[in-house]
Amino acid sequence: MSSLEKIINELSLHEKEVLLSLHSFEGKSTPEDIAKNDVGSLVKVMNASSWLQSKGIVDIHEKLETIYSLTKEGKKFLTQGMPERQALTELINSNGQIDLDTLGNKIGKDNLAIALGWLKKRDWATLQSKDNKKVILITPQGKKDAQHNTQDEDALKSLKEGSSIQGTSVSSLKKRGAIKEKEKILRTISLTQKGKNILKKGLDITDVLSQLTPELIQTGKWKTATFRPYDVSAFVPSLYGGKKHPLTQLIDKIKSIFVGMGFQEIAGNYVESCFWTMDVLFIPQDHPARDLQDTFYCKQPPRMPVDKHLLDSIANVHENGGSTSSTGWQYKFSKKEAQKSILRTHTTVNTIRYLYEHPDPPSKIFQIGKVFRRENIDSTHLPEFQQVEGIVHEKNANFCQLIGILKEFYHQLGFEKLRFRPAYFPYTEPSMEVEVQWHGKWMELGGSGIFRPEVTEPLGIKETVLAWGLGLERIAIMYLGLNDIRELYFSDLDWLKKLPLL
Ligand code: PHE
Repeated sequence: MSSLEKIINELSLHEKEVLLSLHSFEGKSTPEDIAKNDVGSLVKVMNASSWLQSKGIVDIHEKLETIYSLTKEGKKFLTQGMPERQALTELINSNGQIDLDTLGNKIGKDNLAIALGWLKKRDWATLQSKDNKKVILITPQGKKDAQHNTQDEDALKSLKEGSSIQGTSVSSLKKRGAIKEKEKILRTISLTQKGKNILKKGLDITDVLSQLTPELIQTGKWKTATFRPYDVSAFVPSLYGGKKHPLTQLIDKIKSIFVGMGFQEIAGNYVESCFWTMDVLFIPQDHPARDLQDTFYCKQPPRMPVDKHLLDSIANVHENGGSTSSTGWQYKFSKKEAQKSILRTHTTVNTIRYLYEHPDPPSKIFQIGKVFRRENIDSTHLPEFQQVEGIVHEKNANFCQLIGILKEFYHQLGFEKLRFRPAYFPYTEPSMEVEVQWHGKWMELGGSGIFRPEVTEPLGIKETVLAWGLGLERIAIMYLGLNDIRELYFSDLDWLKKLPLL
């Protein structure tokens, strides 16, 4: 089968009808005329024509045209004459001179003011005072113009007769509210060379079936019916269904990985005390991370209540090691500082509180939540970002196990090349950082370690606690193939729509 025959075979009945109609119009017509030519509704014609255009069989040419039509006022001008014309006629009838009151009575008070303005503008008459009366006198120009229509009058007439208008009358009639304008797209459909070749070959107008119905099968009619072949490569507009934001999808995935590994999810508040966020974690009060430069302190509430007994014992741990075998940080602990409220700077605040409330092992918990730091925004930093936090609290938990859990987690997400490097956090010992290889470079993903006795003992926790806090957005940009962390929050609808499900 030649390629032209293949195209002909795949034409729908409507497409064929439009082509035949175009043929009868010598290859070029408007959709309106084609529709009148027995093809059916304008929508049908346009639909079929767009398909024909996408197959290169016709061209659709569009032109924007301004269409004018008469307003109510314009129609009145046409039937009664424009006010100045009515006045001129009266002037002629009374030998070129009429007093103002008489004219007002003849053509109406409303028309009079407009008529006077235009009589003067067109130089048709002058207004003079005679014997204490205002009198209108016709001019030679008025006498001349009484013989024929003005341009504006001609324009109104041709509009009524269905012709279009142009030129100076348009603006003057528009100003007088006699006409209104509307933009209209005028379309012309014409056969391309390919279209002409198809028509030369001839079109068979018998309807071909495009759908196999239960009825056709039941009656056996399908055996003799002719089916229109499908062009599976034909263009169709893409439809994008609603879906969750990719970050939410990723969070769901991470949750299911941890749940699959036997973890339970917890959550907490954004506003926390320094005590739970830092002091309990043995972060000294002069640590740079607690600086105004790094942390958002809250004006309201300025302070948060802390259990007095616990506050005392943590103060001791900081000052001299307290009940632990540590010597502490050896400085004067401020209880006031401890009660300040802040936006949580890490999700570790929730795990440590959970451990305090559930000191008995075993427990395996995780959480994914927002944290806040005074960071300058750039391609890898945001002041508001999310962490994937977790702990394992059980007898004989060890460092290898921690590495194993993190490896398993990242492997399940699809990251193969990981490395673990020694790190430092005031609350873990040993501590390590996880890095993943991405586009040939090592990218830091987060911290982890085993909670120090200075952290666990004052809270009554007896067994080993493995802990980690990982960045979510870093995982997300690698996962989604982005270069910049900010792109996650741009809400670029086009990107979001086209993004496949994770
Ligand atoms: N809280 C640390 C951070 O925000 C991560 C961490 C969590 C480190 C738990 C060790 C243990 O970077």
